[in-house]
Amino acid sequence: MADTGSAQDHWWRDAVIYQIYPRSFGDADGDGIGDIPGITDRIDHLAALGVDAVWLSPFYPSPLADGGYDVADFRGVDPLLGTLGDFDALVAAAHARGIRVIIDIVPNHTSEEHPWFVEALNSPPGSAARERYVFRDGKGPDGAEPPSGWQSRFGGPTWTRLPDGQWYLHLFAREQPDLNWANPEVRAEFLDILRFWSDRGVDGFRIDVAAALAKDLSEPLREIVQTPDGSGLDEMRANPDHPFLDRPEIHDIYREWRRVFDSYDPPRVAVAEAWLPSHRQLHYVRADELHQAFNFEFLRCPWDADALRDVITTSVDDASSVGTVATWVRSNHDVVRTPSALGLPRGTDLAAWLMTDGTEPPLDLERGLRRARAIALLQFGLPGSNYVYQGEELGLPEVADLPPEVLQDPKWERTGHTVKGRDGCRVPLPWDTQGPSLGFGAALGWLPQPAGWGGLSVAAQTGDPDSTLELFRGAIRLRRTLIGAGAGESFAWDADTDKGDLLAFTRGEHWLVLTNTGAEPVALPDGEVLLASGPLDNGALPGDTSVWLRRP
Ligand code: NOJ
Repeated sequence: MADTGSAQDHWWRDAVIYQIYPRSFGDADGDGIGDIPGITDRIDHLAALGVDAVWLSPFYPSPLADGGYDVADFRGVDPLLGTLGDFDALVAAAHARGIRVIIDIVPNHTSEEHPWFVEALNSPPGSAARERYVFRDGKGPDGAEPPSGWQSRFGGPTWTRLPDGQWYLHLFAREQPDLNWANPEVRAEFLDILRFWSDRGVDGFRIDVAAALAKDLSEPLREIVQTPDGSGLDEMRANPDHPFLDRPEIHDIYREWRRVFDSYDPPRVAVAEAWLPSHRQLHYVRADELHQAFNFEFLRCPWDADALRDVITTSVDDASSVGTVATWVRSNHDVVRTPSALGLPRGTDLAAWLMTDGTEPPLDLERGLRRARAIALLQFGLPGSNYVYQGEELGLPEVADLPPEVLQDPKWERTGHTVKGRDGCRVPLPWDTQGPSLGFGAALGWLPQPAGWGGLSVAAQTGDPDSTLELFRGAIRLRRTLIGAGAGESFAWDADTDKGDLLAFTRGEHWLVLTNTGAEPVALPDGEVLLASGPLDNGALPGDTSVWLRRP
């Protein structure tokens, strides 16, 4: 069933959506932690970048066991980040500039400090309070073994035992107990939370761990093959019938949610964070369920023309088979930043690389940045919506050498210090060339910024035509013009030029997007150069470079 509705209702189909990790964006009150007023103060940066929407990672009250993805109150703002009034002011400032606001909703689990979990801990086995979560007796004669051998995404078992002998389920950290989505009270609560924020004017929701809410918990619990990186992409291939990923029952939940979204004018939109293979994501993206899902196959695709061609073809075809458009995303708060990921030899185990403080294998950051800029132009050239993670527009690299004592990702502790985790992509943004935290705030930020980041700041890059920031600004604006001038949602590989290391596709009659993933320059076809991710070489497109041409 295709999605019907007005053009205005479909704003998200070609939107550029900018992800803000609030604790690391801007710090207005000088406590070293980014906050909501710090976003409002910098909203003109986003307007100048030309983005259509922001997606805010969680800002809710949270004991921060998992960077805010452990929510203690789904209807509040963490006092360190501001107030509900500050949130309303941010929404108003964004809307005044034509920027929509998407917020993160975290329905798979709560914080251990959520009143429901506190009540569950104080209630006996079998009580209604425990029924909101997943409590089980253990295995073995005295129930001392966990109910199943499932491993948590952050290391260690998914089950933790309480003093009264029962175990509770947490797919992530121990401090993030999983909710029981078979319980009508849980379902009703989230419908109400969606309405609460929709009533405050938010335009949409990013749904955390969207594929895991429904679970097959029938006894005996089934054991599964799990992958060390914890990504559903690989795990689903090994376990097509998985006990807690992509269960058929999940679609009822999103059908209910969609009725809430559609009861608003304009309808609220939703994007699923579901680390599933593309063909399984399709089941979520429907006229009576969710609007989009992040394209993680694209995010994980290596810098290789054949691999990119395949993933782009599949994404475009899959999306159009259900009447929608694909999403394009290369970066977020969970993955190694693009210039670093693409500056390492193909196939590098990024978690192992982080454990060497980014020394082994050595990183070719210059090449990585060239590729990151090239893939940005490729990505902005594709039909559908684009997600940009804060700092991507500055070409920030991963901070791979954060000292162990500052690491906050639960993976670090839960893996016994064998996996560093995701702090290296969450370092506070540099805004100015100077100052204790380079304009992030009046004090040092909660994670240290590396030497030299002043040169990557917004101030340093603004007005420099060769900077990554100006490339992003130019690409986002030009893309909008070209879409309006006839490119629409069209896409076709350009049979004459698309071969070998050269990716080439057309958008409408006149817009040609070319990316050279190889090492050798390739002659450019006829056309006016509109934008290039790096210098051209006497009419040829050098390796690791993209260009947009206007065809005669
Ligand atoms: C996905 C989020 O992006 C990640 O940061 C978080 O740790 C997990 N979900 C658990 O909520």
